[in-house]
Amino acid sequence: MARFQLLHSPLSATKFVFLVWCGAILGATLVATFFWASFSSSHFSIAPNWVIESPGTIVVPNTTTTTTVPPNKEEDPNSARKHAERILSATFADLLAPDLLWEQMPSAPVPRLDGASIQIGDIFYVFSGYGSLDYVHSHVDVYNFSSNKWVDKFATPKDMGHSHLGVATDGRYIYVISGQYGPQCRGPTSRSFVLDTQTKKWKSLPPLPAPRYSPATQLWRGRIHAMGGGKENRHTPALDHWSLAVKDGEALEKEWRTEIPIPRGGPHRACVVVNDRLYAIGGQEGDFMAKPNSPIFKCSRRHEVIYADVYMLDDEMKWKILPPMPKPNSHIECAWVVVNNSIIITGGTTEKHPVTKRMILVGEVFQFNTETQKWSVIGKLPYRVKTTLTGYWNGWLYFTSGQRDRGPDNPQPQKVVSDLWRTKLSALI
Ligand SMILES: *[C@@H]1O[C@H](CO)[C@@H](O)[C@H](O)[C@H]1NC(C)=O
Ligand SMILES: *[C@@H]1O[C@H](CO)[C@@H](O)[C@H](O)[C@H]1NC(C)=O
Ligand SMILES: *[C@@H]1O[C@H](CO)[C@@H](O)[C@H](O)[C@H]1NC(C)=O
Repeated sequence: MARFQLLHSPLSATKFVFLVWCGAILGATLVATFFWASFSSSHFSIAPNWVIESPGTIVVPNTTTTTTVPPNKEEDPNSARKHAERILSATFADLLAPDLLWEQMPSAPVPRLDGASIQIGDIFYVFSGYGSLDYVHSHVDVYNFSSNKWVDKFATPKDMGHSHLGVATDGRYIYVISGQYGPQCRGPTSRSFVLDTQTKKWKSLPPLPAPRYSPATQLWRGRIHAMGGGKENRHTPALDHWSLAVKDGEALEKEWRTEIPIPRGGPHRACVVVNDRLYAIGGQEGDFMAKPNSPIFKCSRRHEVIYADVYMLDDEMKWKILPPMPKPNSHIECAWVVVNNSIIITGGTTEKHPVTKRMILVGEVFQFNTETQKWSVIGKLPYRVKTTLTGYWNGWLYFTSGQRDRGPDNPQPQKVVSDLWRTKLSALI
């Protein structure tokens, strides 16, 4: 069942630039179709509506239309080269990183993108997410790190968001804050819930003061904190920061309290508490939006700025700016674990390619030592991937889900995966 795979080593160092680009700019508003065309999978049974792609032609799901993309617009790097005097390697954003030996474990029951996860002891709860752009999951899959099996599955409340959830736990209860409700680029909800993992019962919490996509969420000093995220149009970054006192799965207040706004807003950042300090790491401003008047809220791409910023709150309750990540990184909300006072982060997305404007995924494993406040790159994943769900048990670093790259030489997003991998983490410094 499990197999070992020695990794390819193509995530080469920052590479090279030739000639000077002076041709047409491909435009910041690439239609979502291009991106979601890469959201493809041919072999997952749940997905009759997965997008299928052949060179130059993008077939979108049956419910919508078929679009033909002139190959020289988007797909053919040679056409760019014709106008260009300078081309940047597609993999230029990869950082030098040691190889790790990854072992493939039983795949999750379903592929998921923009899902969420919480680890409690050796149990790993994996929440909802997109199965395809037109289908969102509304259940939790449960993995046991001791037996290395997927052991359970149960439904989420019907009013709960499906993707872009904010999640946090106290070791028994899992708090689920707002998120996107429904497929494509539908609106966010402010509805929030709590799961008792012992009884598998859900209860409502007071709703957030406003709906949010992917608010940075964490339990800190007896309060759930939710901050940043995307506003109702999915694109506009929010700076608001709210908190709610909770105990044993109950809200102790009727309403969320306003806290000090986060210096920079937006969705898809990691939010972590280590030694009583709250960290918000990476993220982005801007995101896909629903096309105006689209009855299915079809996603269309908008300008995004990915950033490397790290902010921290401690006793002073004033945001402190810490050393940034080794590169801008987003889509990492559940891609982290804490090991021996270090925050380990797997994968993500970085700034788009400056020439092709393509999305670029991240394939490194990062470490932030919260004592020395130093970042390092401690390894490579089996492939570049965003919105992974990450756990740590008994010396093993695990990750599952997300959207992976097209291959060693092509860091653009392609298949949404259900794979589960693990590697033995060597002693951190
Ligand atoms: C679209 O879906 C319907 C049923 O879901 C199917 O009968 C039809 O063949 C599909 N069309 C294409 C072009 O795949
Ligand atoms: C997880 O697996 C271990 C080892 O098989 C077992 O002892 C434990 O009861 C399991 N936990 C749950 C919650 O299934
Ligand atoms: C974490 O600390 C423990 C105790 O010092 C040590 O045995 C272990 O190897 C460390 N783990 C890592 C991944 O550094």
